Amino acid sequence: MSKVRIGVAGLGGIFYGWGGDSGHLPAYPRLDEAKICALCDVSQDNLDKAAFWFKRVYEEEAQRREAAGDFRRAEELRADADSVRLYKDYSEMLETEHLDLVDIITPVKLHKPMTIQALDKGINVMCEKPMARTWLEAMEMAEAVKRSGKVFQYAENFIYSISWYNLRKFLVSGIIGEPIAILLPLAIGEPGALTASYWDPTVAGGGSLLDMSIHGITATWFLLGFDSKPVRVKSAEPDGIGIKMPERIVDGKYRTVKAEDEAHFLVEFERPNGWTTVFLEGSWSYRDSVASSVIIGTKGSIEFGAPDKMTLVDHHGHRTEIPYWSPGFLHRMPWLESDGFFGELRNIVTCIVENTKSECDERVGAESMAIAGAAYLSEMLGRKVVSLDEFKEYALQIQEKEGDRASDVLIRELTQFGGAK
Ligand SMILES: NC(=O)c1ccc[n+]([C@@H]2O[C@H](COP(=O)([O-])OP(=O)(O)OC[C@H]3O[C@@H](n4cnc5c(N)ncnc54)[C@H](O)[C@@H]3O)[C@@H](O)[C@H]2O)c1
Repeated sequence: MSKVRIGVAGLGGIFYGWGGDSGHLPAYPRLDEAKICALCDVSQDNLDKAAFWFKRVYEEEAQRREAAGDFRRAEELRADADSVRLYKDYSEMLETEHLDLVDIITPVKLHKPMTIQALDKGINVMCEKPMARTWLEAMEMAEAVKRSGKVFQYAENFIYSISWYNLRKFLVSGIIGEPIAILLPLAIGEPGALTASYWDPTVAGGGSLLDMSIHGITATWFLLGFDSKPVRVKSAEPDGIGIKMPERIVDGKYRTVKAEDEAHFLVEFERPNGWTTVFLEGSWSYRDSVASSVIIGTKGSIEFGAPDKMTLVDHHGHRTEIPYWSPGFLHRMPWLESDGFFGELRNIVTCIVENTKSECDERVGAESMAIAGAAYLSEMLGRKVVSLDEFKEYALQIQEKEGDRASDVLIRELTQFGGAK
């Protein structure tokens, strides 16, 4: 196959990332098997800015390749930077370009329509997290994947990072015995992009749970193996899911926000031969649960809060620090970096070249949405234990009653937190 032809939709915050190896743009010029043909954003300012940075990032990579003696790729990169086309209209991009893949990094509300439109045109899709606003929307996307026979990758970048890759390696080795529990607090002070859309559940589907914990849901499931089955969910005492500080500066002004800024919940996964409880926090009001990310096993544990290393604690309490990039041990692999953005793009490009499915496919994305939905429902029902089946039945009943409005109704019902606690 010739190069995988990619179009990008949405040129905001995560197009650039937050430095280090985060973001989609820094990964593109390193995808030797692909070519970014087109960039699309409704905002002319964002398009112009992206065009400027696209050229700069490609030129920097071209210079690196030249320094390494790879003159052919350097030339190719400069040609790609010159030929990239800009679109304000997504449909026009899909009509005009002969794309193999669209990279969807727009606000969450657009994930479903953009994904379905691309798949129905026979174009493969990678879609940012969360997969959609609701499980119902994710299921519609999954149907479109089936109908099209195309590859869909749910873009959970964690699982393509060096740390999660190595954590799974250790877990599978059995070094800590059976995993009994995983604790993963993910908390920051505010959403990553300080845009109103993050605080608007009608656009984002929810608040900090869908922004932060959604990473934790999929990534801990990955650790346990995607053949594990998420079974039941419970909003956890004492803080559950809700709004801690409703007056936030959004778009330059204090406003009363409607989305949750803290979420604490338990998920039970049935493994092929046992079960594991996962405790997740996803907050935009700083962490207020357990201090460290840890996997607790029957004969040891792995602490993994630090960005560069994990600490293995054996059954005698001995602590061994293991750097993720220890030379000659956990071999350095250039496509596995700390944030996983290059890894996820390389993975979907390879799937397209080899015509194989991604492990992080529509089933994983949609089921992750069901777990999130069950957590909201648990909070709504007074922190009752909710099985995934119960949540799905509840959502399907709303769908039957409300038709096309079902997701909006579901979001409204599940995100009524009634102000600060
Ligand atoms: N994987 C991660 O760690 C990570 C981090 C941040 C954001 N994200 C996800 O990426 C997505 C985008 O987040 P963001 O922070 O970049 O948001 P953002 O608001 O900064 O950027 C979104 C961009 O989409 C553009 N857009 C809106 N409507 C459009 C349309 N119809 N056609 C084309 N472009 C359109 C906007 O103009 C904007 O430039 C979200 O789903 C978010 O959850 C993932």
